[in-house]
Parts: sequence; structure tokens; C-alpha cells
Amino acid sequence: MFNVKQIRHDFPMLNTKMQNHPLVFLDNASTTFKPLSVVNAINQYYLHETSNSHRGDYDLCFHADQMLDKTRQVVADFIRADKNEIVFTSGASMSLNLVALGYAVNHLKKNDEILLTEAEHASNVLPWYKVSKLTGAKIRFIKLDKVGRLTLVNVKKAITSRTKIIAIAHVSNVLGYLSPMKEICQLAHQHKIIVACDGAQSVPHRPTNVKDLGVDFLSFSGHKMCGPTGIGILYGRYELLKQTDPVISGGGMNVDFDANTNVEYLDPPTRFEAGTLNLAGIYGLKASIEYLNKIGMKNIEQYEKELRAYAIRELKKINDIIIYNETAESGIITINKKQVFAQDEATFLNSQGIAVRSGQHCAKILNVFLKTPATLRISLYFYNTKQEIDTLIKALKKGDYLDAYFN
Ligand code: ALA
Repeated sequence: MFNVKQIRHDFPMLNTKMQNHPLVFLDNASTTFKPLSVVNAINQYYLHETSNSHRGDYDLCFHADQMLDKTRQVVADFIRADKNEIVFTSGASMSLNLVALGYAVNHLKKNDEILLTEAEHASNVLPWYKVSKLTGAKIRFIKLDKVGRLTLVNVKKAITSRTKIIAIAHVSNVLGYLSPMKEICQLAHQHKIIVACDGAQSVPHRPTNVKDLGVDFLSFSGHKMCGPTGIGILYGRYELLKQTDPVISGGGMNVDFDANTNVEYLDPPTRFEAGTLNLAGIYGLKASIEYLNKIGMKNIEQYEKELRAYAIRELKKINDIIIYNETAESGIITINKKQVFAQDEATFLNSQGIAVRSGQHCAKILNVFLKTPATLRISLYFYNTKQEIDTLIKALKKGDYLDAYFN
């Protein structure tokens, strides 16, 4: 049974104070808190099981290899992939860069087209600009609908005979809308287009089945799902991983090389994992997925939905709040307080112990669409409560920033 009160005991960070107030952390799209089991797993590696993987003929190394293998399986099961389709990276950004620079650069040519949306954040825009520079392929943006959603109709309109890649978020990190990914993949595949999906804001919050969605690549990060920083995942369909060049070369990813510059790479996924892996991160990632599985991804999705509905209801009772994404499916709620600059409001909320993100949220093209230089983003996770939303609402109701600060 889902019991938020009980769950909160697992997260030491939830006992933190900020500005002498109990911390209310509503910036979970940025990063998430870690349960003790994750911290313990990392400690286990550093305190009792430190060694390198793939590099030794003694028990400790053998154990590290086993943990690596087990974690790959845990990740694969979590998103319904095959184990050899899971690549460990440093995070979603590295994963997206690997798709762009390892796969796309070698498959695209001048005047081919890459479709993005104006809602993508930097990590799903800038690697594609690089691909464009290196290959001569063109970047085009799929139009968002009136409220900023990505719709199948608009994807259909944007596709041309030159479209080769569609790179889009499953859930937007600012507007929180869920893209119709399965339908987009079906449509894309009819046109032999590859879909590179940014799952950083979706995988931590809902059950994911890559085979059912039909995505060709999926990128996500450990730290946004109760795991450590510095560890991420790239899922790729195996036949596409086989056609992907390693962007980073080094130890652990080659079979052999000689003095004549000949080199033979290992098969995917190890081909993409040069150098010493973030083993502490891998221990922690395994623990984080086991923790999420114990709570249940369906329960997490359902609870966040209820929390969101409550927050929207309460926000709508405040007159001077603009909500930019009232109908979004995720726990991301983006607002502004009329006549108050988002960063000023965030600074005031900080003074009340409330952490939210303000600004452009790395999605620097979207502000033109939203017609505002900055917004305030509230992003929920399963350990947040209605009481925390009430604290936020109370703070948002306070008048002018300076008035509220000094009274
Ligand atoms: N992409 C992360 C965010 O939206 C960092 O905050």
C-alpha cells in the first residue's frame, strides 16, 4: 500500500531546514532526493567492495563485474528492454550526445532533416545543432499546439521525405505534457525515421515499456529517479547500437588494437563504456530502481496525478497566478505570479523554505512561445504531500515580495 508518511522516513533530506523553515522541495524535475537504501548501496561499494570492473582476476573484481551485470538487468527489466540494449553513461545529456554524435553523424547527410520541438531543453537541442554542423543536415521544429503540446497531427505535418530523425522528450521539462510517443513512433517508422526519445522526465514517474512505445533510443538519468548523480542510461535497439560509433574510446571497450592503428571494438553495450565506470553510481542506481519497484511505478504515477490535481485546484483559487500547463499529465506545474518576476518570486519562496526552479529551465526557445522571459516551475515527486502544497499556496498568496519578506 502506498503510504507517503512512511515513505518520507526513507529520505533523510526531507528533515532538512532551509532559512529556518522545514524544507519543502518542489524541484524534483531538476533532481530528486535519495532514500537511505541508495546511500547505503553507494557506501557498501566504497567501504567494503571497492574494485574495478573488467580488470582483475580476484574476487573483488569478479563481484564488481557481477554487480554491473545485475544492474544492467535491473535497468533492462525496469524499461522492458533486453540487457544488451542498456548502455551506462554519465546521464541523459551524455546519452543524447551519444545518439547524436555516435549514430546520427554517421547516418545523416546534407539536407536530411532532424525534427525537434521548441520545448526541448538544451541537452536535446545542442547535440543536434552539432550534428547539423558536421553533416549539413537541417534542424526543423515541429509546431506545438495552442497550449504547447506536441501532437501527432503536427508531427505528421512536419515530416518530409528528408526527415531522418525525430528527437523529442516523452515529457517536457517545462510544460510537463506527455507526448503521444507510441503513435509518433508508429508514424515515424512508416517513413523509416528514427525516434530518439528523451525520457529524463518520464521514466522516473511512470511505468516504461520501450518495446510497446517503439522508441529507437531512450535517454534518462539516475539522479532524477532517486539514484546518484553521474550515472545515466542510453537504451538503444540492438541493431541501432551496432551501427553506433563509440564517441569515447579507451580501455574496456576494445577487443584489440595494434601499432598500425587497427582497432577492433567490443560489441554493444560495452563498446560505449570506455574507462572506469561509475561503479558507485551503478550500485546506487540498482538500489534506486529496486526502491522504485518496491513502491510501484503505477502507484507513483497515480499519487503524483492526485497531488497535481490538488495543486492545480488550490493554485486556481489565487487570483494573480498564471498557470501555463493546467492540463499536463505529469507533476510539473509551470506558473507565474502576475507582475512579479519569476526569479524574485523563487527567491521569496526560498525565504519561506520552499525550493522551486525559476527561469528558462534550459529550454531557451520555449520562452518565445510562452511569451515570457521566465517562469516558476513546481515539480512534484511521490514523497511530496498535500501539506507541502498548502505551504506553497500560503507563500504564493503573500503579497509583494518585499512586503512579505519584512512582515
Ligand atoms: N533538465 C533539468 C531541469 O529541468 C536539469 O531542471
